[in-house]
Amino acid sequence: MEILKTKKHMQEWSVGKKKTSKTICFVPTMGYLHQGHISLLEKGKPLCDELVLSIFVNPTQFGPNEDLDTYPNNIENDLRLAEAAGVTVVFLPQKEEIYPDDFQTRISLDFLPDHLCGKSRPVFFGGIVTVVTKLFNIVMPDVTIFGKKDYQQFLIIRQMIRDLDLNIKILGGEIVREPDGLAMSSRNAYLTTEQRESALSLSRSLKMAEQAIAGGEKNSGVIVKQLTAFIQSFSQTRIDYICFCDPQTLEPVKFIDKQTLLSLAVQVDKTRLIDNIIIDPIQ
Ligand code: PAJ
Repeated sequence: MEILKTKKHMQEWSVGKKKTSKTICFVPTMGYLHQGHISLLEKGKPLCDELVLSIFVNPTQFGPNEDLDTYPNNIENDLRLAEAAGVTVVFLPQKEEIYPDDFQTRISLDFLPDHLCGKSRPVFFGGIVTVVTKLFNIVMPDVTIFGKKDYQQFLIIRQMIRDLDLNIKILGGEIVREPDGLAMSSRNAYLTTEQRESALSLSRSLKMAEQAIAGGEKNSGVIVKQLTAFIQSFSQTRIDYICFCDPQTLEPVKFIDKQTLLSLAVQVDKTRLIDNIIIDPIQ
């Protein structure tokens, strides 16, 4: 496994692979890898000749009061896990490599970022789309894999690939959970034992909603009320949003009579957690 730290080396490597008709699968991450990240690597491994992982904590997607400075890292462990997952190259740039002092471009989308996480994190998706475009131009992948835990991010990158005619196939990876249901996240490392208990309210409330809908409840407002009360009964929780919406447009849905995304974001003390489920009431 090679570790490349500069754009130049990464691009030269990718151009070399293209010349020999090798295909490249790319999984971008911010590191502190867990089984959720690994599942994306495992999904990508058989699809292409080369498997590239990037580890870069992207400053432009963090708001001023967010956790950029404390974002967890353990690069030795990440490299061990990457090698075991069959990664051929890790792209590991420094901040200055991606954002030189005179950097001034930002890519934006018109509609998808107006919903869900974009409402409370105004700089978030602009920063993500910009860095991912840069990473795509540096790594030049044929295939890229994004996790559906960050469902809105997946939709936005898919849209951006279409809108900008990028010749990249994007695939989504299913959410990987801890045995008790908590969606894996690098940020779970912030949680104390008590907060970890509160964090379970997210996945449990998704299950509650699924049961309510299976039992015939179709009114999203009624279920949101139930879930709000449930999540608020756990200590240190503060709900950012609980939203039933269209899984393609993210427009809010009042009556759950077709496939619907239930997405939620909850702050447990200072740790912001998200989770989601696609509910199919017809099944
Ligand atoms: P990060 O949070 O490190 O996530 C990297 C990838 O892993 C994303 O595609 C994310 O959806 C996926 N992932 C995280 N937890 C997962 C889980 N429990 N199950 C399945 N997939 C999971 O997302 C980012 O980094 C950044 O925004 C990035 C795209 C790298 C741009 O900076």
